[in-house]
Amino acid sequence: MKEWDSFSEIVKSKGMYLIDSDGNNYFDAVGSMWCNVWGHSKPELTNVIARQCKKLQHSSMFNLTNEPAERLAESLIKISPDMHKVFYSDNGSSAMEIAIKMALQYWNNIGETKKTKIATLENGYHGDTFGAMAVGYVPEFFGKFKKQLFPTIQIPVPNKYRIPKGYDYLDYQNFCLDKIEKEFSNDDKIASFVMESGAQVAGGVIIFPKGFQMKISKLCKKYNVLLVLDEIATGFGRLGSMVQYTEQKSIPDIVSFGKMLTGGYLTMAATLANKKIYDSFLGEFNDWKHLFHGHTYTGNPIAAAVANENLKLYQKNNLIKKIQKTSKIFEEYYDIISEIKTVGDIRHKGMLMGIELVKDKKNKTPISPKKSINKIFFEEGKKHGIYLRTLGNIIMLVPPLAISEEELDFLLNRTIDTIKSAENKIT
Ligand SMILES: Cc1ncc(COP(=O)(O)O)c(C=O)c1O
Repeated sequence: MKEWDSFSEIVKSKGMYLIDSDGNNYFDAVGSMWCNVWGHSKPELTNVIARQCKKLQHSSMFNLTNEPAERLAESLIKISPDMHKVFYSDNGSSAMEIAIKMALQYWNNIGETKKTKIATLENGYHGDTFGAMAVGYVPEFFGKFKKQLFPTIQIPVPNKYRIPKGYDYLDYQNFCLDKIEKEFSNDDKIASFVMESGAQVAGGVIIFPKGFQMKISKLCKKYNVLLVLDEIATGFGRLGSMVQYTEQKSIPDIVSFGKMLTGGYLTMAATLANKKIYDSFLGEFNDWKHLFHGHTYTGNPIAAAVANENLKLYQKNNLIKKIQKTSKIFEEYYDIISEIKTVGDIRHKGMLMGIELVKDKKNKTPISPKKSINKIFFEEGKKHGIYLRTLGNIIMLVPPLAISEEELDFLLNRTIDTIKSAENKIT
């Protein structure tokens, strides 16, 4: 906060743009933290919110239900192969807390009380609450809480740009998979493996190589470990398919969605479980098998109504096909972006691009952490009419999913101009 004198106050939004109190327009390059689907203020979605508000704005899901939440759960089960039931929450971190609790309690419910450990991928991110911090441990973010976080088994992840010396990309993938197998085969206390599905986003846009997630899924089945997938940032079309785990040919026991679930209009997340998990929570009251978890706004009918409309629009507009086509525009810019002096690597899938900036291209030397890259790029981006938010030394492009080809061209050109004009401030 000390570095910031003031903040632009966003007062309006329209389509791809956020508009501040001085009337400046900023292209939303990060889809308002990766959740926006259609752009801002889409009448179909805002009208649904108003209509649902007048009917039923909120009623608890403790002992009750509501029609929009029921309908949404049915749709989510339809689009998510192998899943059986839905548990609602109001943000992604909570959805992951729920997933972790479900996975741990499952083993307890079936009497396997020694299965209590969680394995994860290094560099993963699952939210900012304590359980989520423990399984998605990013040292820079969470180091100050290390002592309070429960231990996890951490498996390295293949980042093609930064493969350790002595390995090539494929060798290193096998090394990571072997490590998982070793851990699983030596330790029957492992309850579950938790990972993002398709790519690690907050960890720096690490896109998983083909077959990697599928092989982890197979190892989980082989060694009786539950697979918990986090599709909060990567599902719902972000990486170019509705449900990323099907594209990855993997089968989770539990999966979480959030962010784009409501099109980016209201706060809602969902944790889905397969029948095996769900059934383990059934019993007489006195068996104490139920999941002690519930939030005030669980299953909020306005959020569910807008999520239903959002899903309807996905179908009506054939959004996934559109994303697959539009996202090819990114590829046309690979060469131009790579030529920039400070660009070390470009990583892209679907509507997600990470541009890693380096001090020295040849040696891949990271930019000094003393530079406030986030602020430099935020300010430089504003000068070029875009709202940018970097993650460390990675420029993130995570635009609204329904962005048009022309809009994406515009965004990429403005991003290139921004990098070039900020370059001398970061090296
Ligand atoms: C993969 C992943 N999981 C969980 C979360 C946490 O979601 P939320 O910010 O809604 O709590 C995020 C947020 O960026 C995420 O990227």
